[in-house]
Formats: sequence, C-alpha cells, structure tokens
Amino acid sequence: RSGRRAAPKVGILGAGVGGLYTALMLDSLDIKYEILEASDRTGGRLFTHKFEDGGKYDYYDVGAMRYPLPKKDENGKYKSGVMKRLGELIEYSKLNDGLAVPLRDTIIDYYYQARTGGTFKYFNSERYQVPLENPDPPNFRAREMGVESEYITAGVDNIAADIVIPFARMIMEDVGLDTNMGKGWDLMMQNDAYSLRAYMSFKYIPSVDLKLPPSHLNTNTINWCETFDKSTGWYDRALTEQVLEALAFARVGSSTFGEIEWKCFDGGSHVLADYMTKYIRSTTEDPNALIRTNKSVKSISQATNGMEVSTWDGSATTYSHVISTIPLPCMRTIDLSAAGLNVMQTTALRKLQYGPSVKVGIRFKTTWWTTRFGIVGGQSFTDLPVRTVVYPSYGVDSDTPSTVLIASYCWTNDAERLGSLISTGKEEYNEQLKELVLRNLADVHGMPYSDLVDEFVEMHAWDWNHDPLTGGAFAFFGPGDFQDLYTSLTAPNANKRLHFAGEAISTRHAWVVGALDSAWRAVFEYLLSSGQHDRIEEFFRLWGTNVEWAQLPTEPPTEDGSGGFDPEDHLLGVH
Ligand code: PHE
Repeated sequence: RSGRRAAPKVGILGAGVGGLYTALMLDSLDIKYEILEASDRTGGRLFTHKFEDGGKYDYYDVGAMRYPLPKKDENGKYKSGVMKRLGELIEYSKLNDGLAVPLRDTIIDYYYQARTGGTFKYFNSERYQVPLENPDPPNFRAREMGVESEYITAGVDNIAADIVIPFARMIMEDVGLDTNMGKGWDLMMQNDAYSLRAYMSFKYIPSVDLKLPPSHLNTNTINWCETFDKSTGWYDRALTEQVLEALAFARVGSSTFGEIEWKCFDGGSHVLADYMTKYIRSTTEDPNALIRTNKSVKSISQATNGMEVSTWDGSATTYSHVISTIPLPCMRTIDLSAAGLNVMQTTALRKLQYGPSVKVGIRFKTTWWTTRFGIVGGQSFTDLPVRTVVYPSYGVDSDTPSTVLIASYCWTNDAERLGSLISTGKEEYNEQLKELVLRNLADVHGMPYSDLVDEFVEMHAWDWNHDPLTGGAFAFFGPGDFQDLYTSLTAPNANKRLHFAGEAISTRHAWVVGALDSAWRAVFEYLLSSGQHDRIEEFFRLWGTNVEWAQLPTEPPTEDGSGGFDPEDHLLGVH
C-alpha cells in the first residue's frame, strides 16, 4: 500500500459512458473527482471496431449502436421521451460550442427498418424477402410447430402487442414517458414476478378483438411467439423487460407509442465517448490526471470519512465518496467484504440477471446485400444460429459505403450458444464460426455459400459474457428482479459513501440512457448524503430532474433526526 493521504475527491469507477457522464456533472458543479478505468481506453461498451486497411465506414459497433431518440421541437430541443437525457447530452454546450465539428453534427439516421426493401426472413427452412410496402410473410410452417390456425391468423405481432400494451399505456399515461413511477409502475411491479412465459401460460387472456379462445396460451404457441418475436429463452425473463423494451423501442408489433427517430453516430458510438473524454481531459493540465486508465479495482472498503479503493497495481486511495459504474458481475469479483453492503445488496449483485449478447462483424469485398438485393439498412431475421443480420446504416450515401455486416447479433440463449465458438480463442473454432456464419448468411439470402466465401475479407467476433470487464452484455432481468433486489442498489452502502450506478441500475437498462439516468441518481444521492443541499438547485437546473427521485425531500434531517433526506428511508419502491 502506498498509503496516500485521504483525498477529498469523489472516486468514479469506470470510464464508460456512465462514468464519463458522472464526471461531466461533477465538473459542472466544481466538485473534484478522478476516474479509475480498468482498461486502457474510455467508452466501455461504447466500443467501435474498425477493420484495419478498411475504408472510412468499415467499422461496426460491438456494443451500443442505435438510439431511438425523441423528436426535436421547433427550437431544436428534444421533446420528452425515454431517451431524452441522451438527446440533451448530445446537445451539451461543452461538447458542441466552439468545436470544429460539434457533437450534434455527428448524429445520422439509423435505418432500424430497411430504407429500401429486400431484407429477409428465414424460418423453418422457408425464405421470404420482405418488400417495403405491404409485406405479407408466409406463416413459416407454424402448424408444424403445433400452433392452432386461429393463433396463426391472429399473428405473433398482435398477440405480443396485446400482452404489452395495457402495461405500457398505464406506465406512459400515468406520468408520461420520462419516468417509470406511479400507478402504472406499481401495476407492473405487481406482475414483475411473472416471466413473460409464465404470464402467457397462467394469467394472460387474449382480448376479444383477437378472436381467440378466452384461455391462456399453450406452450407450443408461446414457443412460436418467442421464435418470431425475440430470441431463444427471452420469454423466460421478466414480463417487465418485455414492456420496458417496447417503451424504449416505442413500438410493439404494429403498434407504436411516442414519436422517435432512430439515430446513430457517424464514425461509430465511440464518437460520443471520445467527445466526453476530450472535454474532461481539457479541464486539467495533466491529461492523465482525471481519467486514470489501467487501474483495475481490487477492493473497496469503508474508511474513516470515506471509501478506500485499492487497485491491482498496488495503489490505494481514499475518496470522500465513490460512485461505481462497474458492471454488477464484475463488482462481485472485487473484494467488497468491508464495503458495508447490506445482505439485500450483496444478493442483488449475485442475482440480478444480465443478458448475454454477441456480435459477429464481417468485412466483405463489396456491399453485396445492396448490389444483389437492394438492401440499405434494416435487419434480416432467422431461426438459424446467427438469428439477426444487421445491415449498415452509416455511409450508405457515401462513395465508400461500408462493406461491413453485423452477420450475427444474438441475445439470451442464442448468444450463449454462439458465444461458445467465440470465447474459446482457438483458431480452429474461429474457422468453424466463420463457416457457420457464412453458411447461415447463404441460407438466409438464398445465395451460394461459395459466393460468400469469395466475398469474405475478415471477421471480428465479440462475446460480452466472456469479457472480463463486463461479465454480460447488459442487464436483462429475470422474474421479480425489479422488486426489492434492484431497489436495494438505488441506495448507498452503510456509511452512505458508496453509490451504485451503471446501466444495470436503471429501468432503462440495456441502453446508454440507462447509464445516464443512474449516474444522475448517484450524483443526486451523493449531494444529499454528503450534505451539499445548497448545490441541488444548480444540479437540477443543469441536469434536469428525474421523477423517480426528485420528489424526495432535499433538506437535511433536523437535529432530532426527523424529516429531511436519509437515503435509507427512501429506497425506491421498498416499503
Ligand atoms: N439496446 C440494445 C439494442 O437495441 C439492447 C437491447 C436489446 C435492449 C433488447 C432492449 C431489448 O439492441
């Protein structure tokens, strides 16, 4: 131990978008901080892989890649919506004013749905090329999956919408899209113990207009819905996740809510992290002082008037407060035995479920999907191991369009399975992965496998579950996780100096905005528990409020301990 003297700074753990955003907020309030980052770069899961020797657009986003932003009003301000805080960050003056290319100018359209037609669906060995107008896909042999014809007539999309819409509407109408609090959320929590599958099996009754029998769904029907709607095993996760996902995507089946515009960053998502990093580094003379890379945390413990953080390189620092954005699976590998966590919190670290996710990026010689099939942007879907193919949205109008395809984007069990070929790191499995992915692409597009082999240049695959710095791609909760386990981490540890942030600790997890929301809550919690009540008004003015939290009393408790703010009395949702 180097035994440095206690620094009155705030320690931020992790230089992903949540940690960087925390730094921007503290910087704006003139509060001293330092970020410890385990890797040698910033951005975390804002991670863009650029293929060497490729053109300007020969990259893909291994992590976050697409952003359903709210629309802007006539003054250029983002309207309310689930992703508003991200929109406001993109507009933040310090990332725009006086810069040659302001951050806001790096935002380009993302084609969630293909701009021109021609994407594919390939299920049960049947292929359908989706036209832009009036698609009429076949039922892909649903009868052979054991589904009765009336359900096939109703359709997966309408059934999925029928399940989600009542909850989604309640959550939205209650208090609007900016928050997840109120009666709608209460109703959601009363049903949080259901997996989506259990809800469909034991509670859900189809609405009359679907013209289905007034009974719960059978397993074959549920499996069929899962196959076409999401990924394998997805329906075993919380019903709540399905509803939150629909709210974020602003659609379920053919129903939409909220007005969004799909966007991405020109140059990849790491652009956002780069702008934030650059600004933070510009605020001090020593560019390494505020963001300290290659600092992997070994233990976090309570100290007199602070938290001590020791790192694997042998140093230890005591911070007045620590805001951790470390993913929960990694947090559990750190020695927290003296960190003052309560039993509910350690249980939450162990139990809150993450979603596995993998991507396989392939650089080809040409944009064959455009030249052969007319595809620009959008996705193809299949039950084959690759599950989802994502065509590039960036550079589509440039002279050097991207020849990189996300040949596979998988979630849940599909990601676990394909990930077994990725994480081994052995050459022979690389060959096997490449062969599998190209064979699947050939089947999905109905083209000769040999053509794809001829087109192939280079592959880059990533399994977030086996990345030692994440241990999972993003939080994706199991049944009941949102109730008491989640809320145990929206409050600090015993001495109220360790605060939990990161995308997991948000009702918008699996999105960048979730990391921002939770960082906001952690800074608010820090201001309150460090007694800086005088700074809260300014904090609200600069960084907005969040209805989940702004309704808490902001005054310190009186001397007899009554009234005021004590984080432990105000655990969101804990009664
Ligand atoms: N935001 C990610 C995506 O758009 C991950 C995600 C997957 C979020 C599924 C919600 C549901 O792919």
